[in-house]
Amino acid sequence: MLESVNRSQTVAPITATEIADAMDAVVAQVRRNLPEFTYAAQNHSSVGNFYPQVPNTQWTSGFWPGSIWLAYEATGERIFRYAAQIHVQSFLNRIRNRIETDHHDMGFLYSPSCVAAFKLVGDEDGRQAALLAADQLLDRFQQKGQFIQAWGPMGAPDNYRYIIDCLLNLPLLHWASAESGRDIYREKALAHAHTTLANSIRPDNSTHHTFYMDPETGAPVRGRTAQGYRDDSAWARGQAWAIAGMAACHRYEPDQRYVDTFDRLLDFYLRRLPDDLVPYWDLTFTDGDEPRDSSSAAITACGLLEMADLVEGARAEELRALAARMVGSLWRDYAVRDTRVSNGFVLHGTYSKKTPYNTCTGEGVDECVAWGDYYYFEALTRLTRKWTSYW
Ligand code: GLY
Repeated sequence: MLESVNRSQTVAPITATEIADAMDAVVAQVRRNLPEFTYAAQNHSSVGNFYPQVPNTQWTSGFWPGSIWLAYEATGERIFRYAAQIHVQSFLNRIRNRIETDHHDMGFLYSPSCVAAFKLVGDEDGRQAALLAADQLLDRFQQKGQFIQAWGPMGAPDNYRYIIDCLLNLPLLHWASAESGRDIYREKALAHAHTTLANSIRPDNSTHHTFYMDPETGAPVRGRTAQGYRDDSAWARGQAWAIAGMAACHRYEPDQRYVDTFDRLLDFYLRRLPDDLVPYWDLTFTDGDEPRDSSSAAITACGLLEMADLVEGARAEELRALAARMVGSLWRDYAVRDTRVSNGFVLHGTYSKKTPYNTCTGEGVDECVAWGDYYYFEALTRLTRKWTSYW
């Protein structure tokens, strides 16, 4: 196993009692939030640790319904199913009317909300919405370069690029292939994954956030950051998306290249972690006062648990143990324990921190973030039992 894993031994794995307490806290928070967030979406990040209500227009709107579905699975209570199915109607309306859907984040939106609804309770509107979203994602595939264009008008030279996060949008395409019987979704998902493998991982095992391709020839051009500290740094969430993304790719296309790349990415990540296993927002920073990104740790824990389900024996156990340590740290030192402090689950996430060297807007710094909450809940769920993924 990775030598770097030894560094993680400073944090105790979460215990069964702690998992039960953490699950109770999260389910209670979901229940408390239902009146405010059944007919409204949560903002991508909290403001002063409280999520405002927003319309269902952001790339992050799927995570809150995903958390409601996890609460439904944890309790079996109809109130959660009822609320989550109200969100499905909002997602069906969004994709039918193409409301803020001209981007690649269809998987982040439709896997935890609508694929989950179909898998868990057979919601046909969820199925239809998710298939429409998969079609929308397919429409963003660029033949020249073999990738899914992340943002902006299709073919625009200043946006002829994909981003590392997109690996988590690919499961929607695999689901759509299986559900529709049409291979095209899977073919494009595999092509995008192979393009990512070819270009996005640097020789030092860190990742480029975004990667430009040549619109004329389809050749790789260069990496650039949007949300990391600067172009040659490693954005902590990007590295987490890559780790979880390799596990997801390996599930849908078992291939040693994904496992080897997962190991390399994880090794880099672990070497850059502070002692409590929760990274600073960019892996350039290993100590000091920069904000953390707790969501990166939550995503990585889910990636570890996903890969643990796909590999054998001692290796799987090591990955599970590491995830249990990371989630232990989140529960003990980052989780919301007092609802007067926050309406989220996990504090100290970072959405976009502006620097002189990046292009993001700068928001959601040292706040709860919708995906951080969701992946923390997913990791807890995965630690309690064998879980059928929404992804
Ligand atoms: N996928 C965008 C982000 O992680 O902020």
